[in-house]
Amino acid sequence: MSTPEIKKEILRLKNQNDVLILAHSYQTRDICEIADFTGDSYALAKHAAAAKNKTVLMCGVRFMAETVKILAPEKRVLLSHADAGCPMAEQLTREDLAELKAKYPNAVTVAYINTTANLKTLCDVCVTSSSAERILTAIAEKEILFIPDINLGQYLASKMPDKTFRFVKGGCPIHMTALKTDVIQAKLAHPNALFLAHPECLPEVALQADFVGSTTGIMDYAKNSEKQEFIIGTETAIVEHLQFECPDKKFYPLSEKFICRDMKLTTIQNVLACCRGEGEEINLKEETRLSAKKCIDKMIELGG
Ligand code: 13P
Ligand code: SF4
Repeated sequence: MSTPEIKKEILRLKNQNDVLILAHSYQTRDICEIADFTGDSYALAKHAAAAKNKTVLMCGVRFMAETVKILAPEKRVLLSHADAGCPMAEQLTREDLAELKAKYPNAVTVAYINTTANLKTLCDVCVTSSSAERILTAIAEKEILFIPDINLGQYLASKMPDKTFRFVKGGCPIHMTALKTDVIQAKLAHPNALFLAHPECLPEVALQADFVGSTTGIMDYAKNSEKQEFIIGTETAIVEHLQFECPDKKFYPLSEKFICRDMKLTTIQNVLACCRGEGEEINLKEETRLSAKKCIDKMIELGG
């Protein structure tokens, strides 16, 4: 089948089998084009909570599909590619976290949403890059054990000096590859461009940015800005989407190394297979689901 034929068949099957297709913004254009909704982790979680369909297909990585299952247990939840995980989500085990909690008994445990469901069972509140500042400002506790992304954590700590942050050395292996020298080179090559960065970047990179935000935050900023050129400090899919949506503006990747292999595993053929009822179904033990749900509910309550 040609790509247009595959897309047509996906749309037919999606309606016939009542499948909602959610896609993270790092997915390729062809997948975003057939998705019902594309967005950042926070928007995807909120969409999942409100979904009415029998089946939800998450085109993204495993923790995102787990979040859907946690919020919508009665639905059949499919992950677009069985091997699509987020390496950062698996950097800590439950045992590691239990040790950290014992070390900082007075700290509130805040998990970046890029964590496994299993790890979330030990956390008090979840955050995403777009909701973290709002949520951490809203919580009364002054001591925060922030897992697993030290870069997002340090960015947040710089915004709220009244709180004490405890970190682990986790982070996104993709975003952490860019260094300050990459920013200097990109700015020299594109002197009129604004630099927009994801908070998963190293502080030496994020500190050079004109704007720091989530994938959707970066896209909205660039679309609404009067400026014409932008250096994009996140996965290259965002460069691709922005160039498509704003053909009169210019977008440059901060680094050619910003390619998330896991996010790129999903193809349009995988989406077709899932709409046919194949694909990896997410199942969680009810005990794990209920326990992990508490910190996600808290995120939605405080995140607005
Ligand atoms: P967003 O919440 O900004 O979409 O980030 C998710 C992610 O995995 C970024 O690497
Ligand atoms: Fe995980 Fe990094 Fe890929 Fe985002 S870009 S899904 S944090 S590995």
